[in-house]
Amino acid sequence: MTKIEMFTGKGGVGKTTMSVATALQYAQSGKTLLISTDPSGSLSEIFSQPLDQRVTTVAANLDAVELTRQLVLGLWREKFADEIYTVLSSFLPVGREIIDYIEGAPGIDEEFMLDYLLTMAQSGTYRMIVWDTAPTITTLNLLFIQQLFYSHLTQAQKVYLKVKSVFNQVDPLALINKWKNLTAQIIELLQTETTAWVVANPERLPVEQALDIAGSLTEFGVGVNGFILNKMLPPEVCSTHPFWQTKFQAQQSWRRRMLLAADGKIVKEVPELLGEMRVDGFLGEVSEILRKS
Ligand SMILES: Nc1ncnc2c1ncn2[C@@H]1O[C@H](COP(=O)(O)OP(=O)(O)OP(=O)(O)O)[C@@H](O)[C@H]1O
Ligand SMILES: [Mg+2]
Repeated sequence: MTKIEMFTGKGGVGKTTMSVATALQYAQSGKTLLISTDPSGSLSEIFSQPLDQRVTTVAANLDAVELTRQLVLGLWREKFADEIYTVLSSFLPVGREIIDYIEGAPGIDEEFMLDYLLTMAQSGTYRMIVWDTAPTITTLNLLFIQQLFYSHLTQAQKVYLKVKSVFNQVDPLALINKWKNLTAQIIELLQTETTAWVVANPERLPVEQALDIAGSLTEFGVGVNGFILNKMLPPEVCSTHPFWQTKFQAQQSWRRRMLLAADGKIVKEVPELLGEMRVDGFLGEVSEILRKS
């Protein structure tokens, strides 16, 4: 089974940088897919080509895709819309616009983002999937909504058994079970094949949030590999001016907080670098630092 490595953390800390650098690294030893579930993802800009419509090869052994809401809902329609319409229209006087209505329900796009991840993992095409996530809360919702879905669908089975007589020709249980089975597979994928790196900058909010996220991921059952402290100021550039000296000291105290709270987990450190986030910019350097640390 394909392994999935996710990069999570507060907004702007370097999740995309670490994801792309890691994906470039993994592509050297096996076929790799880079997926972004951030609605304002930037893979298209980094690879200078549109990646929001389909999986596209961006380098040797490396494919990439940005899962936009539109792309995901299109896939949901292909997979479920006909069945849902058949069931609902068997007892309600509704037209196909009911699908547009259901499509707007909270959680549908989240569920299908992870269905896409599952499909890709099960395809057997990739050795590794590197998953660049949206900032913290959106991603945690994405995970916890699966459990919510699962328990709703269990309730739905019970409700169906009570109102069975209103359905004449169709069997909604098949649909409920299909969906429930899918959700169970997604949860299993997250709990058994997925591990996470939590990215932070050496400052109060990103560090505290990273520690919280690591706790939530563990609670959900996703293994946490460790933390990446990104944009550490190198001591040699901070020695002369009081402004940089103070900033350096502050970073070091947040670094110590992270090392203490990491509880033996790996903490990788990446310095603040010059240049741009491009394949021919500092991404190669970040790949090397991550590989060696
Ligand atoms: N080590 C570094 N040195 C210098 N600049 C960096 C470094 N890491 C990231 N950056 C820059 O910081 C900015 C934010 O990085 P990135 O986009 O990877 O963060 P993100 O966590 O994915 O953000 P978002 O939450 O918006 O998706 C980018 O402009 C990136 O080029
Ligand atoms: Mg990003």
